[in-house]
Amino acid sequence: MQADSVITNIGQLVTCRPKSRKPLAGSELGKLEVIENGAVAITGESIVAVGKAAEIESSIELTNPDAVIDVGGMVVTPGLIDPHTHPVFAATREDEFEMRNQGKFYMEIAEAGGGIRNSVRKLREASHEDLYNNAIRYLDYMLECGTTTIEAKSGYGLSTDSEIKQLEVIGDLDQNHLIDIIPTFLGAHEIPDEFRDNRDGYIKLLIDEMIPEIAGNELAVFCDIFCEKNVFEIEDSEKIMTAAKEHGFALKFHADEIVGIGGAELAAKLGAVSADHLDVISDAGISAMAEAGTIGVLLPGTIHFLDMKTIPPVRKMIEAGVPLALATDFNPGSSATVSLQMIMNLAAVRLKMTAAEIINSVTINSAHALLIADRIGSIEVGKQADMVVWDIDNYKQLPYFYGFNLVDMVIKRGRAMSR
Ligand code: NIG
Ligand code: FE
Repeated sequence: MQADSVITNIGQLVTCRPKSRKPLAGSELGKLEVIENGAVAITGESIVAVGKAAEIESSIELTNPDAVIDVGGMVVTPGLIDPHTHPVFAATREDEFEMRNQGKFYMEIAEAGGGIRNSVRKLREASHEDLYNNAIRYLDYMLECGTTTIEAKSGYGLSTDSEIKQLEVIGDLDQNHLIDIIPTFLGAHEIPDEFRDNRDGYIKLLIDEMIPEIAGNELAVFCDIFCEKNVFEIEDSEKIMTAAKEHGFALKFHADEIVGIGGAELAAKLGAVSADHLDVISDAGISAMAEAGTIGVLLPGTIHFLDMKTIPPVRKMIEAGVPLALATDFNPGSSATVSLQMIMNLAAVRLKMTAAEIINSVTINSAHALLIADRIGSIEVGKQADMVVWDIDNYKQLPYFYGFNLVDMVIKRGRAMSR
């Protein structure tokens, strides 16, 4: 068989190759296929062979005999996929971070006019170009840290024009940056300043104007909502998300983050692809999500950054059969990291997940949370050649080391980039 290049002498090749087309759940989440002394052959942007180095090397014929990448016994995984980020914003919010560390609570700052509304005021004034240039720096860091695909949300515009501006920036970033980006409309992120005394007016604007217009212009795949006490309560969330579904959006929820109001149950009821955060999910929410196959996207970076004392009942969720994924939630207010490596460590320490569970949760299950598991998320023949070469001895060191970059090389669509 012919191939353009081969990555060989892989100490541990972690494929994340699933046995079925469904997201990994229950005990399957903790299983990994690890090929010792592996190799992967690539042609164009795709993987054409996966297996033991000796077999691959003897069965392929390289179009360019120099295109052998010997990784000297390092570990290779699929490219990391971050299924929950807010990377387009006009300004960072380190002053609020400091206020929180001096004793103020996240929601207190938000209710006093800071938080998301602070970011909204600034994004509305910013140009497309400035927003683009700010975000591209973060995408560069993500790629350097091993992330090859992300989801990116709007939600700092909260008017039709500003939401469209933010989604157009996301579209341009996807076009121009090597990282692939799946766009999400998050107009229901907060009630903007001009609607504080007229919440129903904003909900009407979302349903009658923003959702149809964003859908009509195909600016987003998903619609998301901050379903939370004093933000969008259950009844309003159901109305908004039902409208989004009718306009063809796949659904995501920020659910049960601070006060448990039944966001997970609603996400499951409406057939959402994922419900994210879930720090205070109820037993009924766990059963509903397991039953519906709704993926739980856990965000330990936010728990860490907001110093939350509530930890999602991860073991209970796994035992109940809820498929799990992990994400950074990168945003200027509640999670200022772009690094899924950091998240892997936090998932081990704070969420008590195993290395195998964590690796599946940032690869194949993250791909499912973005509805693209047919193309990426595992190292198997026919899939896009998105991979990371890690400068570690075995895969268990991936969540173990923290605070420095373990990436040796990132391969995106078949193109290898050394650090
Ligand atoms: O996922 N919880 C709501 N949204 C974001 C925070 C956004 C912000 O503070 O700017 C989150 O944590
Ligand atoms: Fe978020």
